[in-house]
Amino acid sequence: MSNQNLHIEKSELNPAEKEFENTIRPREINEFAGQPQLIENLVIFIKAAKMRGEALDHILFHGPPGLGKTTLSRIVANELGVNIRETSGPVIEKPGDLAGLLTNLDGLLTAPLLSRFGIKARLEYYTAEVLKKIIERSAAILHVSINSEASSEIAGRSRGTPRIANGLLRRVRDFAQVLNDDIIDIGITQHALRALNVDEHGLDEMDNRILSTIIEKFKGGPVGLTTIATAVGEEAGTIEEVYEPFLIQEGFLHRTPRGREVTHKAYEHLGKKPRNDNLPGTLFTDLTQ
Ligand SMILES: Nc1ncnc2c1ncn2[C@@H]1O[C@H](COP(=O)(O)OP(=O)(O)OP(=O)(O)O)[C@@H](O)[C@H]1O
Ligand SMILES: [Mg+2]
Repeated sequence: MSNQNLHIEKSELNPAEKEFENTIRPREINEFAGQPQLIENLVIFIKAAKMRGEALDHILFHGPPGLGKTTLSRIVANELGVNIRETSGPVIEKPGDLAGLLTNLDGLLTAPLLSRFGIKARLEYYTAEVLKKIIERSAAILHVSINSEASSEIAGRSRGTPRIANGLLRRVRDFAQVLNDDIIDIGITQHALRALNVDEHGLDEMDNRILSTIIEKFKGGPVGLTTIATAVGEEAGTIEEVYEPFLIQEGFLHRTPRGREVTHKAYEHLGKKPRNDNLPGTLFTDLTQ
């Protein structure tokens, strides 16, 4: 994989997936679920710009893939009645630029570039409640019936990410169509998610591979990002930008000055015992007895 593919590894969509995303993409601000603070501010900025008859300031939406940056950009353009010209991560030359753009604004983005954006907004991972609503809205657009238990289940396994929630819904729908008379209930949902290797926390194969590699090969860490990347066979930038934020937010991993370290929760999740000589304090004591 070339450096320029950094960002798209996990979020590069094929034409059918793009079409699917466009079908269910909210077009108006009131259809956009979650991110309440950000939306509240945007509404104000848009109104103010309109009242003054001025152009809206430049906006930088940033955050992990699939959280709604493109969606929001289009909604803003729509609200303002202007055309939108889209470009995306892969046109950015250096992987560091891109990882910086998407994860943390500080340091990697140059001050002159940053200063061009009057409004900077970071999108955060979504709660399961909001994802459930997004899934139910998408199901209605797709004319599939899904019950509340099933939408909660999918929501809980979607890594806080609308794109993943919608993608899982799409796959679960396939199983329901073939095996369950088109009905998405909890049984077919659990069956499908098992078949898709999505575990109860929504961690996929690569997430679990990262955690188990740190545990098995590096005694749970701390270990450097590039070392992890080589061991799991993935770009360091992709790990940093796509996988790590969620693993950190969910408390499976943390960053230390000496590298990445798995947590108690990661050991528990993988059903592994931490090594005694690697235990900070008493945190893991009961597991090792
Ligand atoms: N708040 C939301 N409410 C409903 N659907 C959403 C929301 N946010 C995202 N989606 C859906 O998730 C999908 C991905 O969103 P989008 O393309 O905007 O993500 P992105 O942040 O631009 O991702 P990338 O970083 O890969 O460009 C779209 O199909 C969109 O409909
Ligand atoms: Mg986008």
